[in-house]
Amino acid sequence: MTKNLYIHTIGCQMNVYDAEQMAGGLMPLGYQLVSSPEMADLILVNTCAIREKAEQKVFSFLGRLAKLKKKKPGLIIGVGGCVAQQEGKKILERVPYIDVVFGTHAVGRLPKIIQQIESDRGRIIDIEMSDEIQEREFAMTSQHEGKVTSFVTIIQGCDNYCTYCVVPYVRGREMSRSPENIIQEIRQLVKAGVREVTLLGQNVNSYGKKEGLCSFSELLSQVNDIEGLLRIRFTTSHPKDLSEELIHAFRRLDKLCKHIHLPVQSGSNRVLKRMNRKYTRELYLEKVEKLRDVCPDIAITSDMIVGFPGETRADFEDTLNLIRTVEYDSLFAFKYSDRPNASAARFSDKLSEQEKKERLQILLDLQKHFTIKKNEDLVGKTEEILVDGLSKRQTSSESRQISLNPESDIQWAGRTSANKIVNFIQGNDCRSNDKILTGQLIRVRIDKALSHSLWGEPVKLEPLGSEGEKSYAA
Ligand code: SAH
Ligand code: SF4
Ligand code: F3S
Repeated sequence: MTKNLYIHTIGCQMNVYDAEQMAGGLMPLGYQLVSSPEMADLILVNTCAIREKAEQKVFSFLGRLAKLKKKKPGLIIGVGGCVAQQEGKKILERVPYIDVVFGTHAVGRLPKIIQQIESDRGRIIDIEMSDEIQEREFAMTSQHEGKVTSFVTIIQGCDNYCTYCVVPYVRGREMSRSPENIIQEIRQLVKAGVREVTLLGQNVNSYGKKEGLCSFSELLSQVNDIEGLLRIRFTTSHPKDLSEELIHAFRRLDKLCKHIHLPVQSGSNRVLKRMNRKYTRELYLEKVEKLRDVCPDIAITSDMIVGFPGETRADFEDTLNLIRTVEYDSLFAFKYSDRPNASAARFSDKLSEQEKKERLQILLDLQKHFTIKKNEDLVGKTEEILVDGLSKRQTSSESRQISLNPESDIQWAGRTSANKIVNFIQGNDCRSNDKILTGQLIRVRIDKALSHSLWGEPVKLEPLGSEGEKSYAA
């Protein structure tokens, strides 16, 4: 009998990957994915605890499920992910209609847990963590169908204990998967049509170190050799562990995309020290310089925290100056928020919400200028993009800016190697060729830069994919 499964995922790419694993594991029990919670027999909420706001989102979503459970008492509701790991039993106490709470190390055990609930309707909590990697059976699901890009977790957990961060507590110790398992999984994905993989870890740079496996750069070389795969990305890279070998991989490996997410968090040495980041502003800038020496057109993005406890106006100015020096392609910036267990929560010199809000706005205003500048620099250039598929509808103001005819123009979207979204238009005749254009590398001349995307025109509608691939006739 088929049963319907709905998964609601909040949080980082690792949660997206875990959700795929949950769906794959539950398939043999007869569960198929559906797109709305109303249709579901089993609802899983995959949670994130990184900031207070993310945690609030979890409880507001759970609140909305009360009505569904009333209507359909047989509905099973499970909470997984980082809040589940952190709060455990408290979630069962706080939300009476939750059937199961499963932690970040329990994803592989989920099918057994659900089976048990189906048979005895009890409530289960499983937040046990282990010190050894638990390889899960990899299964393709409907989530993989037609997908051009995919995530693959290569290292779990984190041992860095940045003082603001909850991750080491909710994801456990750093543990790397074997290169064999990773390569095998990517091969399966490629067979199913995936053309680009993003290798995931809280700090991919420490891949394999503890276990004495190969280095991260060596793993990248192995992935680079996979036939049919066109592109490789990775995230996240801790600046303290960014090796020369890895920097040179950007020149050495043809499939490695020219983009690095290198979170700096602050431009002040005093704050970096209190954050326990283990690098200085100078060391960070040195690495940025080396990256640009090796790969001049590499895109660099980062994460920033504003209003860390004790951050003075001068510290904040240091951060703004660092942004001006690096000229990031884009930035994710967050207001500091206390997290349970994270030691900065016990620091005394907290900033007011108002101050944090103001600093965040100043930082975002500054960065906006660089994001637009970087996009504008590409106008007139020809870029290679990997076509993701038909693009999401543009806002009406964007449509006006590029004089779209919504009746006849088909909009496509792809990404450059530097991870910038490029939309382009092909006439109606292309719609039937959807499958053929999707997943292909094509050359596009960039005509227009908007704040979050670019518009371009295909130079020649001919795929640049690996040899032997079907060619596409426009
Ligand atoms: N492992 C990654 C970060 C993962 S968390 C790294 O080390 O770069 C993603 C981002 O959330 C962090 O880079 C940081 O900018 C932000 N973040 C983490 N904890 C936070 C907190 N307590 N308050 C505000 N932002 C936080
Ligand atoms: Fe958190 Fe630091 Fe680990 Fe990143 S490296 S997950 S910020 S503790
Ligand atoms: Fe959130 Fe957990 Fe990822 S806390 S950012 S889902 S590792």
